[in-house]
Formats: sequence, C-alpha cells, structure tokens
Amino acid sequence: MATYPTKRLRRLRYNPTVRDLVRETVLTKNDLIYPLFAVTGQKIKNEIKSMPGVFQMSIDVLVEECKEVEKLGIPAVILFGIPDHKDEVGSGAYDPNGIIQQAVRAIKKATKKLLVITDVCLCEYTSHGHCGVLHGEKILNDETVDLLVRESISHAEAGADIIAPSDMMDGRIGAIRKALDEKGFTEIPVMSYAVKYASGYYGPFRDAAESTPAFGDRRSHQMDVANSNEALREAESDIEEGADIIMVKPAGAYLDIIWRVKEKFRMPTAAYQVSGEYAMIKAAGRNNWIDEERVMIESLTAIKRAGADMILTYFAKDVAKYLDKNR
Ligand code: PBG
Ligand code: ZN
Repeated sequence: MATYPTKRLRRLRYNPTVRDLVRETVLTKNDLIYPLFAVTGQKIKNEIKSMPGVFQMSIDVLVEECKEVEKLGIPAVILFGIPDHKDEVGSGAYDPNGIIQQAVRAIKKATKKLLVITDVCLCEYTSHGHCGVLHGEKILNDETVDLLVRESISHAEAGADIIAPSDMMDGRIGAIRKALDEKGFTEIPVMSYAVKYASGYYGPFRDAAESTPAFGDRRSHQMDVANSNEALREAESDIEEGADIIMVKPAGAYLDIIWRVKEKFRMPTAAYQVSGEYAMIKAAGRNNWIDEERVMIESLTAIKRAGADMILTYFAKDVAKYLDKNR
C-alpha cells in the first residue's frame, strides 16, 4: 500500500474537472419534494414570517405554483392544509370538500406528471392543535387511527398520488394500507413519517400550518431526540405494516439516523429538511453571515450522502433553479 510521498490525495482535487469526475454524491432535481401550504379563499399569498420565500396560498395561487414547480422539473409536492374552521376531532381533515381534497383535485387537473403527496395528520385540523383526538390531555391512539384512515381514503379519492402519514400513532400504516387496498387504491404508495422526532426545529412550520398545540407538546407520540435504536424499531414496524417509503425527520441534525435506517433496511428513504433548518439558513444568509446558496447545496448534499433517496425541502425551487444555472 502506497503512502506519502507516493500517495497524494490532492491529485484528485487539483482542478474542477477532476473533482467533477470523482464526486460521489450529486444532487439532482429528482431528489426533491416541495412542501406547500393550502388555505381557503382567493388570490391569497401570505408569506410566513419565519420562513422567507414560503407562503400560505389559496388554491388558485397554489395551482399556478404547481405548474411552475412542474416546469422547473421538480417531481413532487407535498401538501399541508389549513382549514377554515377547526374542531375537537379535526373534521376538516376527512371532509370530501376539505381544503386538501379541493387542492388535490385542482392541482391534478392543471398538471400532467407532478406527483401530489398529501400529509396525513390531524394537528392542522383540531381546535387544540394536537395530532389526534383527546381524552382529557391524552391522545387516544386507536380512535385517532380510525380518523387518519378516513383522511387517507379521502385524499386518495381526491386523486392524491402518495399518502404520507406524519402523525406517529402506532399501527396507522397497517390500517391505512389495508383500507386503501380495500377501496381499490392498491397502487397508491404510503410514504411513512416513520422516524419523526419531537423536535424544536418544527417551530416555523407551526406558524405556517397554524398547528401549535394549545397545551403540552408532542412528546407522547414523536420520538425522543436522544434515541437511535428506537428509530430502527419505528422504521421496522412501518415496513412490516406496508410502508413503501420511510422518512426520517428532521434531517440535518439526524444524519446518523438516516444512515442507520438506510444501511439496515435498504428501503427508499426520504429525509425532511424541516422548517427550522430552512429558517436558520435563510436568516444567516440574509445577514450575510453565511453564503446561503452554498450552505443550501451543502446541507442537501450532506443529507443525500447520509443515505436519503429523496429530500423534502423548502429550498426545492431554489435548488432546481441553481441546477439549471450551473449545468
Ligand atoms: C404535522 C407535521 C409537522 C411537520 C410536518 N408534518 C409538524 C409537527 O409535527 O409539529 C413539520 C415540518 C416542518 O417543520 O417543516 N404532524
Ligand atoms: Zn400532527
């Protein structure tokens, strides 16, 4: 085995062309999933204060946005809905004429091949902002699963291409898969938020989705930040229950988890670069404390290098434009 001075690792770094030749991880448009927030009304485009460049959009605006996303070559969007009114049981989530159901129908009509993924949870739809139905201050697992099943079916009936449960209730993937199959939606994949941590990085999202819990937090269903082996158990049960794609969330602070999950299961693995990750990069970029574009690409390349096959990111459009510019 050669050692220095025969061995010189810098030989493969001397110029851009040789660096291009040996690069191991390359971000492409096909890696991207773009999150979008739908609200009721007309001509609405409200910027989220803590997420510059991210908007709540009424369906008319959202449809135009999706056309642009498709044109940019981004394969998929994931939709979050902010309903008109919220109640104890999150009825807006499984209303056949709910915000997401309407949005999906409109987007599918206006686009050709854009994949429309829908986030399935109750927290955007409940008056208390929790991810399930409550008994006192406790979230009831099985009762919540029944409602998540209804929500999933109504998304599929509206035309959703992929169903993405983000609630972290036990047993929901199996229940949703079974119901989808019984209703004839055997070809619709389930992308499970399988490994979702109780994270401080979701703060800005809760402004965007207006889903901050009225009391308490999400630690009774989302994972403890300190745990890693448990992530494998979460992923394993969702795979056993029929998940087609498993997700790790957040991404940047959990690269070790992405790596372990990918290594162990070799499943199509998604990672969610969440609102707080986006907000931090944006804020530092705007202050000229970091080079925003450079850190955007670096953060996403690192997530892919860790093992993610696809990345949900608020930077999706910026990345697509960057890739067009730097071809
Ligand atoms: C809903 C949901 C959340 C996110 C995605 N789906 C918020 C939460 O669990 O509070 C977070 C996404 C982000 O921060 O960008 N259950
Ligand atoms: Zn939730």
